[in-house]
Amino acid sequence: MAFLGLFSLLVLQSVVSGASFPDGTIAEVSVSMYNHLRASAEDENILFSPLSIALAMGIMELGAQGSTLKEIRLAMGYDNLKTGEELSLLRAFSNMVPAEESQCELKIANSLFVQNGFHVNEDFLKMMKKYFNAEVNHVDFSQNVAAANYINKWVENNTSDLLKDLVSPRDFEAVTHLALINAVYFKGNWKSQFRPENTRTFSFTKDDESEVQIPMMYQQGEFYYGEFSDGSNEAGGIYQVLEIPYEGDELSMTLVLSRQEVPLATLEPLVKAQLIEEWANSVKKQKVEVYLPRFTVEQEFDLKDILKALGITEIFFKNANLTTLSDHKELFLSKAIHKSFIEVNEEGAEAAAVSGMIAISRMAVLYPQVIVDHPFFFLIRNRRTGTILFMGRVMHPETMNTSAHDFEEL
Ligand SMILES: *[C@@H]1O[C@H](CO)[C@@H](O)[C@H](O)[C@H]1NC(C)=O
Ligand SMILES: *[C@@H]1O[C@H](CO)[C@@H](O)[C@H](O)[C@H]1NC(C)=O
Ligand SMILES: *[C@@H]1O[C@H](CO)[C@@H](O)[C@H](O)[C@H]1NC(C)=O
Ligand SMILES: *[C@@H]1O[C@H](CO)[C@@H](O)[C@H](O)[C@H]1NC(C)=O
Repeated sequence: MAFLGLFSLLVLQSVVSGASFPDGTIAEVSVSMYNHLRASAEDENILFSPLSIALAMGIMELGAQGSTLKEIRLAMGYDNLKTGEELSLLRAFSNMVPAEESQCELKIANSLFVQNGFHVNEDFLKMMKKYFNAEVNHVDFSQNVAAANYINKWVENNTSDLLKDLVSPRDFEAVTHLALINAVYFKGNWKSQFRPENTRTFSFTKDDESEVQIPMMYQQGEFYYGEFSDGSNEAGGIYQVLEIPYEGDELSMTLVLSRQEVPLATLEPLVKAQLIEEWANSVKKQKVEVYLPRFTVEQEFDLKDILKALGITEIFFKNANLTTLSDHKELFLSKAIHKSFIEVNEEGAEAAAVSGMIAISRMAVLYPQVIVDHPFFFLIRNRRTGTILFMGRVMHPETMNTSAHDFEEL
Protein backbone atom coordinates (compact mmCIF):
# COMPACT_ATOMS: atom_id res chain seq x y z
CA MET A 1 0.00 0.00 0.00
CA ALA A 2 1.07 3.54 -0.47
CA PHE A 3 1.17 5.80 2.50
CA LEU A 4 1.58 9.46 2.24
CA GLY A 5 1.59 11.96 4.93
CA LEU A 6 2.43 15.47 4.70
CA PHE A 7 1.85 18.84 5.92
CA SER A 8 2.75 22.39 5.82
CA LEU A 9 3.28 24.79 8.60
CA LEU A 10 3.15 28.50 8.88
CA VAL A 11 4.40 30.24 11.97
CA LEU A 12 3.36 33.78 12.69
CA GLN A 13 5.01 36.30 14.86
CA SER A 14 4.96 40.02 15.37
CA VAL A 15 7.52 42.73 14.82
CA VAL A 16 8.10 43.49 18.47
CA SER A 17 10.88 41.28 18.01
CA GLY A 18 -17.72 21.66 -6.32
CA ALA A 19 -18.77 23.86 -7.90
CA SER A 20 -17.37 23.55 -11.31
CA PHE A 21 -13.84 22.85 -10.29
CA PRO A 22 -11.53 25.34 -11.92
CA ASP A 23 -8.82 22.92 -11.02
CA GLY A 24 -6.63 24.09 -13.80
CA THR A 25 -5.70 26.88 -11.44
CA ILE A 26 -4.38 24.61 -8.72
CA ALA A 27 -2.61 22.51 -11.33
CA GLU A 28 -0.99 25.62 -12.75
CA VAL A 29 0.41 26.72 -9.41
CA SER A 30 1.49 23.12 -8.68
CA VAL A 31 3.61 23.12 -11.80
CA SER A 32 5.16 26.47 -10.88
CA MET A 33 6.08 25.11 -7.45
CA TYR A 34 7.53 21.99 -8.99
CA ASN A 35 9.66 24.06 -11.33
CA HIS A 36 10.95 26.13 -8.48
CA LEU A 37 11.88 23.01 -6.49
CA ARG A 38 13.51 21.56 -9.56
CA ALA A 39 15.70 24.62 -9.94
CA SER A 40 16.82 24.50 -6.31
CA ALA A 41 17.08 20.73 -5.88
CA GLU A 42 19.04 19.94 -9.03
CA ASP A 43 19.46 16.20 -9.05
CA GLU A 44 17.36 15.31 -5.99
CA ASN A 45 14.11 13.50 -5.45
CA ILE A 46 11.14 15.82 -5.12
CA LEU A 47 7.90 15.44 -3.22
CA PHE A 48 5.27 17.91 -2.11
CA SER A 49 1.53 18.23 -1.77
CA PRO A 50 -0.10 20.98 -3.82
CA LEU A 51 -3.35 20.22 -1.99
CA SER A 52 -1.84 20.86 1.42
CA ILE A 53 -0.15 24.08 0.35
CA ALA A 54 -3.36 25.34 -1.28
CA LEU A 55 -5.32 24.65 1.91
CA ALA A 56 -2.78 26.33 4.20
CA MET A 57 -2.64 29.36 1.91
CA GLY A 58 -6.43 29.41 1.82
CA ILE A 59 -6.55 29.87 5.57
CA MET A 60 -3.99 32.66 5.39
CA GLU A 61 -6.07 34.25 2.68
CA LEU A 62 -9.06 34.29 5.03
CA GLY A 63 -7.03 36.34 7.45
CA ALA A 64 -5.57 38.73 4.89
CA GLN A 65 -6.74 42.02 3.42
CA GLY A 66 -5.62 44.70 1.02
CA SER A 67 -2.49 44.11 -1.00
CA THR A 68 -1.50 41.07 1.07
CA LEU A 69 -4.72 39.38 0.00
CA LYS A 70 -4.29 40.52 -3.58
CA GLU A 71 -0.84 38.99 -3.80
CA ILE A 72 -2.00 35.63 -2.55
CA ARG A 73 -4.93 35.50 -4.95
CA LEU A 74 -2.77 36.48 -7.89
CA ALA A 75 0.00 33.98 -7.08
CA MET A 76 -2.40 31.11 -6.49
CA GLY A 77 -4.15 31.84 -9.78
CA TYR A 78 -7.47 32.92 -8.26
CA ASP A 79 -7.48 36.41 -9.70
CA ASN A 80 -9.90 35.48 -12.47
CA LEU A 81 -12.37 33.97 -10.00
CA LYS A 82 -15.05 36.01 -8.27
CA THR A 83 -14.05 37.22 -4.82
CA GLY A 84 -14.24 34.35 -2.40
CA GLU A 85 -15.05 31.76 -5.05
CA GLU A 86 -11.82 29.96 -4.32
CA LEU A 87 -12.98 29.47 -0.75
CA SER A 88 -15.85 27.29 -1.92
CA LEU A 89 -13.40 25.39 -4.05
CA LEU A 90 -10.99 24.89 -1.15
CA ARG A 91 -13.86 23.92 1.07
CA ALA A 92 -14.73 21.21 -1.41
CA PHE A 93 -11.10 20.02 -1.29
CA SER A 94 -11.18 19.96 2.51
CA ASN A 95 -14.21 17.73 2.29
CA MET A 96 -12.74 15.64 -0.47
CA VAL A 97 -13.11 12.44 1.45
CA PRO A 98 -13.19 9.52 -0.94
CA ALA A 99 -16.40 7.58 -1.30
CA GLU A 100 -16.89 4.88 1.29
CA GLU A 101 -16.50 2.05 -1.19
CA SER A 102 -13.22 3.44 -2.52
CA GLN A 103 -11.31 2.05 0.47
CA CYS A 104 -8.80 4.85 0.13
CA GLU A 105 -8.22 6.89 3.21
CA LEU A 106 -7.81 10.61 2.81
CA LYS A 107 -7.71 12.67 5.94
CA ILE A 108 -7.29 16.40 6.04
CA ALA A 109 -6.81 18.29 9.28
CA ASN A 110 -6.19 21.96 10.00
CA SER A 111 -5.31 23.53 13.29
CA LEU A 112 -4.53 27.01 14.43
CA PHE A 113 -2.29 27.00 17.49
CA VAL A 114 -2.79 30.27 19.31
CA GLN A 115 -0.73 31.85 22.07
CA ASN A 116 -2.73 32.04 25.29
CA GLY A 117 -4.18 35.51 25.58
CA PHE A 118 -3.61 36.45 21.95
CA HIS A 119 -6.76 37.79 20.38
CA VAL A 120 -7.95 36.25 17.13
CA ASN A 121 -11.03 37.80 15.55
CA GLU A 122 -14.26 35.85 16.03
CA ASP A 123 -15.25 36.21 12.38
CA PHE A 124 -11.97 34.73 11.26
CA LEU A 125 -12.42 31.75 13.57
CA LYS A 126 -15.95 31.20 12.26
CA MET A 127 -14.84 31.31 8.64
CA MET A 128 -11.90 29.04 9.34
CA LYS A 129 -14.27 26.53 10.87
CA LYS A 130 -16.79 26.92 8.08
CA TYR A 131 -14.46 26.58 5.13
CA PHE A 132 -11.62 24.49 6.50
CA ASN A 133 -13.15 22.72 9.44
CA ALA A 134 -10.14 23.95 11.38
CA GLU A 135 -9.52 23.37 15.07
CA VAL A 136 -8.19 25.97 17.45
CA ASN A 137 -5.72 24.91 20.13
CA HIS A 138 -4.24 27.20 22.76
CA VAL A 139 -0.58 26.95 23.65
CA ASP A 140 2.09 28.90 25.47
CA PHE A 141 4.92 29.46 22.99
CA SER A 142 7.15 30.87 25.73
CA GLN A 143 7.27 27.27 27.03
CA ASN A 144 8.90 26.42 23.73
CA VAL A 145 9.77 22.80 24.49
CA ALA A 146 6.24 21.97 25.58
CA ALA A 147 4.75 23.88 22.66
CA ALA A 148 6.92 22.04 20.14
CA ASN A 149 6.03 18.68 21.69
CA TYR A 150 2.36 19.50 21.62
CA ILE A 151 2.42 20.51 17.96
CA ASN A 152 4.57 17.56 16.96
CA LYS A 153 2.11 15.20 18.67
CA TRP A 154 -0.73 16.79 16.76
CA VAL A 155 1.14 16.31 13.50
CA GLU A 156 1.97 12.69 14.29
CA ASN A 157 -1.61 11.92 15.15
CA ASN A 158 -2.97 13.48 12.02
CA THR A 159 -0.49 11.77 9.71
CA SER A 160 -0.73 8.33 11.28
CA ASP A 161 2.80 8.75 12.69
CA LEU A 162 4.39 9.23 9.28
CA LEU A 163 5.72 12.67 10.08
CA LYS A 164 7.49 13.34 13.34
CA ASP A 165 9.52 16.16 14.83
CA LEU A 166 8.20 18.81 12.54
CA VAL A 167 9.00 21.76 14.72
CA SER A 168 11.78 22.29 17.19
CA PRO A 169 11.65 24.48 20.31
CA ARG A 170 13.97 26.90 18.51
CA ASP A 171 11.18 27.72 16.10
CA PHE A 172 9.29 29.59 18.79
CA GLU A 173 10.11 32.81 20.52
CA ALA A 174 8.43 35.12 22.97
CA VAL A 175 6.89 36.96 20.02
CA THR A 176 5.32 33.91 18.44
CA HIS A 177 1.56 34.33 18.37
CA LEU A 178 0.25 31.66 16.09
CA ALA A 179 1.13 28.52 14.18
CA LEU A 180 -1.15 27.19 11.50
CA ILE A 181 -0.84 23.60 10.41
CA ASN A 182 -2.48 21.64 7.66
CA ALA A 183 -2.04 17.89 7.51
CA VAL A 184 -2.99 15.57 4.66
CA TYR A 185 -2.86 11.85 5.07
CA PHE A 186 -3.53 9.38 2.30
CA LYS A 187 -3.49 5.65 2.23
CA GLY A 188 -4.66 3.69 -0.75
CA ASN A 189 -4.39 0.18 -2.02
CA TRP A 190 -3.69 -0.35 -5.68
CA LYS A 191 -6.80 -1.53 -7.41
CA SER A 192 -4.60 -4.24 -8.83
CA GLN A 193 -1.85 -5.07 -6.37
CA PHE A 194 1.67 -6.19 -7.11
CA ARG A 195 2.50 -9.67 -5.88
CA PRO A 196 5.45 -9.64 -3.50
CA GLU A 197 6.89 -12.83 -4.98
CA ASN A 198 7.27 -11.02 -8.28
CA THR A 199 9.49 -8.34 -6.81
CA ARG A 200 13.10 -8.73 -7.79
CA THR A 201 16.29 -6.82 -7.43
CA PHE A 202 16.73 -4.77 -10.53
CA SER A 203 19.17 -2.26 -11.85
CA PHE A 204 18.06 1.39 -11.97
CA THR A 205 20.05 3.76 -14.17
CA LYS A 206 20.27 7.33 -12.95
CA ASP A 207 20.52 10.33 -15.18
CA ASP A 208 24.28 10.48 -14.58
CA GLU A 209 24.40 6.89 -15.91
CA SER A 210 25.42 5.36 -12.59
CA GLU A 211 23.45 2.28 -11.58
CA VAL A 212 21.93 1.19 -8.30
CA GLN A 213 20.23 -2.05 -7.31
CA ILE A 214 16.67 -1.58 -6.12
CA PRO A 215 13.60 -3.73 -5.45
CA MET A 216 11.47 -3.71 -8.58
CA MET A 217 7.83 -4.73 -8.42
CA TYR A 218 6.21 -6.34 -11.41
CA GLN A 219 2.77 -7.00 -12.75
CA GLN A 220 0.93 -7.40 -15.99
CA GLY A 221 -2.54 -5.95 -16.03
CA GLU A 222 -4.98 -3.44 -17.40
CA PHE A 223 -3.93 0.14 -16.84
CA TYR A 224 -4.37 3.50 -18.45
CA TYR A 225 -1.47 3.98 -20.81
CA GLY A 226 -0.36 6.33 -23.52
CA GLU A 227 2.67 7.31 -25.57
CA PHE A 228 3.34 10.96 -26.25
CA SER A 229 5.90 12.90 -28.19
CA ASP A 230 8.07 15.61 -26.73
CA GLY A 231 8.43 17.09 -30.19
CA SER A 232 12.12 16.25 -30.51
CA ASN A 233 13.66 13.75 -32.85
CA GLU A 234 15.89 12.33 -30.20
CA ALA A 235 14.94 8.71 -29.58
CA GLY A 236 11.78 9.42 -31.51
CA GLY A 237 10.81 11.93 -28.85
CA ILE A 238 8.51 9.33 -27.33
CA TYR A 239 7.74 9.18 -23.63
CA GLN A 240 5.34 6.98 -21.70
CA VAL A 241 2.51 7.90 -19.35
CA LEU A 242 1.02 5.24 -17.13
CA GLU A 243 -1.86 5.76 -14.77
CA ILE A 244 -2.35 3.19 -12.02
CA PRO A 245 -5.65 3.54 -10.15
CA TYR A 246 -6.14 3.01 -6.47
CA GLU A 247 -9.09 0.99 -5.25
CA GLY A 248 -12.31 2.83 -6.02
CA ASP A 249 -10.89 4.35 -9.22
CA GLU A 250 -11.22 7.88 -7.87
CA LEU A 251 -7.56 8.48 -7.10
CA SER A 252 -4.64 7.30 -9.16
CA MET A 253 -0.90 7.56 -9.52
CA THR A 254 0.37 8.87 -12.83
CA LEU A 255 3.92 7.98 -13.83
CA VAL A 256 5.76 9.78 -16.58
CA LEU A 257 8.83 8.14 -18.01
CA SER A 258 11.20 9.31 -20.70
CA ARG A 259 13.08 6.88 -22.92
CA GLN A 260 15.98 5.22 -21.17
CA GLU A 261 18.58 7.33 -22.95
CA VAL A 262 16.76 10.61 -22.39
CA PRO A 263 17.24 12.36 -19.02
CA LEU A 264 14.10 13.31 -17.12
CA ALA A 265 15.30 16.90 -17.25
CA THR A 266 14.47 17.08 -20.94
CA LEU A 267 10.85 16.16 -20.22
CA GLU A 268 10.27 18.31 -17.17
CA PRO A 269 10.10 21.68 -18.95
CA LEU A 270 7.17 20.31 -20.98
CA VAL A 271 5.02 19.69 -17.92
CA LYS A 272 2.14 22.16 -17.83
CA ALA A 273 -1.27 22.03 -16.20
CA GLN A 274 -2.79 21.63 -19.63
CA LEU A 275 -0.52 18.73 -20.50
CA ILE A 276 -1.40 16.91 -17.27
CA GLU A 277 -5.03 17.27 -18.32
CA GLU A 278 -4.19 16.00 -21.77
CA TRP A 279 -2.41 12.92 -20.38
CA ALA A 280 -5.44 12.13 -18.25
CA ASN A 281 -7.77 12.48 -21.21
CA SER A 282 -5.63 10.57 -23.68
CA VAL A 283 -4.47 7.49 -21.80
CA LYS A 284 -6.39 4.37 -22.79
CA LYS A 285 -7.14 1.30 -20.78
CA GLN A 286 -5.05 -1.57 -22.05
CA LYS A 287 -2.87 -4.48 -21.06
CA VAL A 288 0.52 -3.29 -19.88
CA GLU A 289 3.54 -4.90 -18.28
CA VAL A 290 4.66 -2.71 -15.39
CA TYR A 291 8.02 -2.68 -13.63
CA LEU A 292 7.83 -0.16 -10.81
CA PRO A 293 10.37 0.41 -8.02
CA ARG A 294 9.31 0.12 -4.45
CA PHE A 295 10.31 3.54 -3.15
CA THR A 296 10.18 5.98 -0.30
CA VAL A 297 10.70 9.70 -0.53
CA GLU A 298 10.73 12.09 2.36
CA GLN A 299 11.26 15.76 1.87
CA GLU A 300 11.32 18.90 3.90
CA PHE A 301 11.82 22.34 2.48
CA ASP A 302 11.40 26.01 3.10
CA LEU A 303 7.99 26.90 1.74
CA LYS A 304 8.73 30.56 2.17
CA ASP A 305 11.20 30.45 -0.73
CA ILE A 306 8.63 28.84 -2.97
CA LEU A 307 5.85 31.23 -2.04
CA LYS A 308 8.12 34.20 -2.55
CA ALA A 309 9.11 32.88 -5.95
CA LEU A 310 5.42 32.71 -6.81
CA GLY A 311 5.02 36.33 -5.82
CA ILE A 312 3.67 36.00 -2.28
CA THR A 313 6.00 38.31 -0.38
CA GLU A 314 4.15 40.90 1.64
CA ILE A 315 2.79 38.35 4.10
CA PHE A 316 6.40 37.67 5.19
CA PHE A 317 7.11 41.31 6.02
CA LYS A 318 6.19 43.76 8.70
CA ASN A 319 3.72 45.52 6.44
CA ALA A 320 1.62 42.36 6.03
CA ASN A 321 -2.09 43.05 6.27
CA LEU A 322 -3.64 40.25 8.33
CA THR A 323 -6.28 42.44 9.88
CA THR A 324 -9.09 39.95 9.27
CA LEU A 325 -7.23 37.43 11.36
CA SER A 326 -6.43 39.71 14.24
CA ASP A 327 -6.56 43.39 15.14
CA HIS A 328 -2.97 43.05 16.21
CA LYS A 329 -1.35 45.39 13.68
CA GLU A 330 2.08 43.91 13.37
CA LEU A 331 1.44 40.30 12.53
CA PHE A 332 3.38 38.66 9.71
CA LEU A 333 4.63 35.21 8.75
CA SER A 334 8.12 34.40 9.92
CA LYS A 335 8.33 30.83 8.65
CA ALA A 336 6.69 28.45 6.27
CA ILE A 337 7.79 24.86 5.86
CA HIS A 338 6.59 21.81 4.06
CA LYS A 339 7.43 18.19 4.76
CA SER A 340 6.23 15.09 3.06
CA PHE A 341 6.70 11.37 2.86
CA ILE A 342 5.66 8.66 0.47
CA GLU A 343 6.13 4.94 0.45
CA VAL A 344 5.13 2.92 -2.54
CA ASN A 345 5.06 -0.84 -2.32
CA GLU A 346 3.11 -3.91 -3.33
CA GLU A 347 0.62 -3.59 -0.45
CA GLY A 348 1.15 -5.82 2.52
CA ALA A 349 4.14 -7.31 0.85
CA GLU A 350 6.24 -8.04 3.89
CA ALA A 351 5.32 -11.69 3.98
CA ALA A 352 6.67 -13.77 1.13
CA ALA A 353 9.25 -11.76 -0.66
CA VAL A 354 11.91 -13.82 -2.31
CA SER A 355 10.71 -16.76 -4.41
CA GLY A 356 10.17 -15.16 -7.77
CA MET A 357 7.91 -17.10 -10.07
CA ILE A 358 7.91 -14.78 -13.02
CA ALA A 359 11.26 -14.17 -14.55
CA ILE A 360 11.84 -10.49 -15.04
CA SER A 361 13.77 -9.78 -18.14
CA ARG A 362 13.43 -7.73 -21.22
CA MET A 363 11.87 -10.45 -23.24
CA ALA A 364 9.97 -10.07 -26.46
CA VAL A 365 6.91 -8.05 -25.70
CA LEU A 366 3.31 -8.75 -26.38
CA TYR A 367 2.03 -5.70 -24.57
CA PRO A 368 3.56 -2.28 -24.02
CA GLN A 369 6.09 -2.45 -21.24
CA VAL A 370 6.65 0.33 -18.79
CA ILE A 371 10.00 -0.36 -17.20
CA VAL A 372 10.57 2.28 -14.59
CA ASP A 373 14.30 1.66 -14.32
CA HIS A 374 15.40 5.27 -14.71
CA PRO A 375 14.24 8.60 -13.24
CA PHE A 376 10.54 9.39 -13.44
CA PHE A 377 7.95 11.99 -12.61
CA PHE A 378 4.77 11.15 -10.71
CA LEU A 379 1.46 12.58 -9.55
CA ILE A 380 -1.29 11.41 -7.26
CA ARG A 381 -4.42 12.91 -8.62
CA ASN A 382 -8.14 12.87 -8.18
CA ARG A 383 -9.32 11.57 -11.54
CA ARG A 384 -12.73 13.20 -11.28
CA THR A 385 -11.77 16.70 -10.22
CA GLY A 386 -8.17 16.82 -11.41
CA THR A 387 -6.93 17.92 -8.00
CA ILE A 388 -3.27 17.09 -7.52
CA LEU A 389 -2.72 15.64 -4.06
CA PHE A 390 0.97 14.88 -4.42
CA MET A 391 3.55 15.60 -7.07
CA GLY A 392 7.16 14.61 -7.34
CA ARG A 393 9.98 12.81 -9.06
CA VAL A 394 12.33 9.97 -8.21
CA MET A 395 15.95 10.40 -9.21
CA HIS A 396 17.40 8.20 -6.45
CA PRO A 397 15.05 5.36 -5.58
CA GLU A 398 17.52 4.03 -3.01
CA THR A 399 17.55 7.22 -0.94
CA MET A 400 15.14 7.40 1.92
CA ASN A 401 15.13 11.13 2.39
CA THR A 402 16.27 14.29 0.78
CA SER A 403 16.17 17.85 1.78
CA ALA A 404 16.25 20.70 -0.66
CA HIS A 405 16.86 23.18 2.09
CA ASP A 406 17.79 22.59 5.63
CA PHE A 407 15.01 24.16 7.58
CA GLU A 408 17.12 24.19 10.75
CA GLU A 409 19.41 26.74 9.21
CA LEU A 410 16.83 29.38 8.48
C1 LIG B 1 -5.65 46.41 5.31
O1 LIG B 1 -6.42 46.43 4.12
C2 LIG B 1 -7.67 47.08 4.28
C3 LIG B 1 -8.46 46.89 3.00
O2 LIG B 1 -7.71 47.32 1.90
C4 LIG B 1 -7.43 48.55 4.61
O3 LIG B 1 -8.66 49.19 4.80
C5 LIG B 1 -6.61 48.62 5.88
O4 LIG B 1 -6.28 49.96 6.15
C6 LIG B 1 -5.33 47.78 5.77
N1 LIG B 1 -4.70 47.76 7.08
C7 LIG B 1 -3.39 47.78 7.24
C8 LIG B 1 -2.90 47.70 8.65
O5 LIG B 1 -2.62 47.85 6.30
C1 LIG C 1 -5.65 15.79 14.89
O1 LIG C 1 -4.97 15.41 16.07
C2 LIG C 1 -5.50 15.97 17.24
C3 LIG C 1 -4.56 15.66 18.37
O2 LIG C 1 -4.37 14.32 18.54
C4 LIG C 1 -6.92 15.45 17.44
O3 LIG C 1 -7.47 16.03 18.60
C5 LIG C 1 -7.75 15.83 16.23
O4 LIG C 1 -9.04 15.30 16.35
C6 LIG C 1 -7.11 15.36 14.94
N1 LIG C 1 -7.85 15.94 13.84
C7 LIG C 1 -8.46 15.21 12.92
C8 LIG C 1 -9.22 15.95 11.89
O5 LIG C 1 -8.42 13.99 12.91
C1 LIG D 1 -5.79 11.35 17.49
O1 LIG D 1 -6.90 11.93 16.84
C2 LIG D 1 -8.10 11.21 16.97
C3 LIG D 1 -9.17 11.92 16.20
O2 LIG D 1 -8.84 11.91 14.85
C4 LIG D 1 -8.49 11.11 18.44
O3 LIG D 1 -9.63 10.30 18.57
C5 LIG D 1 -7.35 10.51 19.20
O4 LIG D 1 -7.62 10.56 20.60
C6 LIG D 1 -6.06 11.26 18.97
N1 LIG D 1 -4.94 10.58 19.62
C7 LIG D 1 -4.10 11.22 20.43
C8 LIG D 1 -3.00 10.39 20.98
O5 LIG D 1 -4.21 12.40 20.68
C1 LIG E 1 17.55 10.57 6.65
O1 LIG E 1 17.64 11.75 7.44
C2 LIG E 1 18.24 11.55 8.70
C3 LIG E 1 18.13 12.86 9.48
O2 LIG E 1 18.06 13.97 8.65
C4 LIG E 1 19.68 11.10 8.52
O3 LIG E 1 20.29 10.91 9.77
C5 LIG E 1 19.69 9.81 7.73
O4 LIG E 1 20.99 9.40 7.48
C6 LIG E 1 18.93 9.97 6.41
N1 LIG E 1 18.79 8.67 5.77
C7 LIG E 1 19.16 8.45 4.52
C8 LIG E 1 18.97 7.07 4.02
O5 LIG E 1 19.64 9.34 3.81
